[in-house]
Amino acid sequence: MTIDGYTRTCGLIGNPVEHTVSPAIHNFLAEKTGRDLAYVPFHVETGRLEDAVKGAFALNLLGVNVTVPYKSDVIPYLAEVDDLAARIGAVNTLVRLPDGFKGYNTDMPGLYRAMQSDGVRVEGEKALILGAGGAARAVAVMLADKGAGEIRILNRTLSKAEQIAEEVNAMTGKKLAAGFPLEAYRDFPKEDRYLCIQTTNVGMFPKVEDALLEDPAFYAMLHTGYDLIFNPLDTRFMQLTRRAGGRAFNGLKMLLYQGVIAYELWTGCEIPETLAQETYQNMRACF
Ligand code: ATR
Repeated sequence: MTIDGYTRTCGLIGNPVEHTVSPAIHNFLAEKTGRDLAYVPFHVETGRLEDAVKGAFALNLLGVNVTVPYKSDVIPYLAEVDDLAARIGAVNTLVRLPDGFKGYNTDMPGLYRAMQSDGVRVEGEKALILGAGGAARAVAVMLADKGAGEIRILNRTLSKAEQIAEEVNAMTGKKLAAGFPLEAYRDFPKEDRYLCIQTTNVGMFPKVEDALLEDPAFYAMLHTGYDLIFNPLDTRFMQLTRRAGGRAFNGLKMLLYQGVIAYELWTGCEIPETLAQETYQNMRACF
C-alpha cells in the first residue's frame, strides 16, 4: 500500500507496544479490503495518557486500540463509553465521534467470536475462571451475558474472586457466580465437567513451564480449556488439559477477533469469516 495524503491512521497506545501483533491484523485487513488505512503502534509513557488521547483525536486518527496498562485508565478521557465496556470497566478500542472518542471493549466479543469459531459453547455451560484480575472480570461479564449456567472463579486471593462474583451477580440479578480459593476444585462435584478459562499470566513466555495448577485431577474436570495466553501458542495449561482428555485453545483467535471487530467499528466493513481466517494465518506467521 502506498501512503498518500488521503491515508487514514489508526494506532495502538500502550506501554510496552513493541511486541504487538495488531499491525499484522489491521494492515493486512486494510490491504485486503482496499482501504487507504495504516495502523501504527504508539508507545505512551506513564503519565502521558491524557495527552496521547487528546493528541490522537487532534491528529484526526480514525481509531485507536488501547492496551496494557491503560484499558481502564483511558475511560475518563473519552467522550462516550459503550455499555458493555462500562460494565466490564475496560476499553480497548476508541472510535471517532465529532467531539471525541467513544470507547468500546472488543476483547470479550472477540473471545466469544473465537469460541464460536472453535465450536466452544457458552450457553448453559458450567464455567471455571482461573484468576481474578481485569481479564477475569471481563470474562465473567461475557460468560454471564452469553448465558453460562454457572460461573466459579478460582483465585489465589479469595477476596478478589468473591468481589467479581458479587459484581456479576448484582449485574444479572441472579446467583450465577461464586468465588473460591484455588484448591477448592477438590471439593467440587466429581461428576461435573467444566469449560475453563485461564486468565492469569502464569505460563506466559518466558516462564513457559509453569501452570497455575498441576494436579491431573483438576484437568480431569475440564471438557474444554481456554487459555487467554498466546505466547507460547501451546501453554502448559493447554497441554495438561489435553493430557486429561479435554480440548484446549490459546488466546490467538481472541486477539484476531478483537482486532476484526475493532476494524469493523472503524471502517463500517463487515469482515467475512474467510478473510478472518486468512488474517489468522498472517498473524501466526509472526510467531
Ligand atoms: P489482568 O488484568 O491481565 O487480569 P491482573 O489484574 O494483574 O492482570 O490479574 C492477574 C491475576 O493472575 C490475578 O488473579 C493473580 O492472582 P492474585 O489476585 O492472587 O494476585 C493471578 N496470578 C498472577 N500470578 C500468579 C501466581 N504466580 N500464582 C497464582 N496466581 C497468580
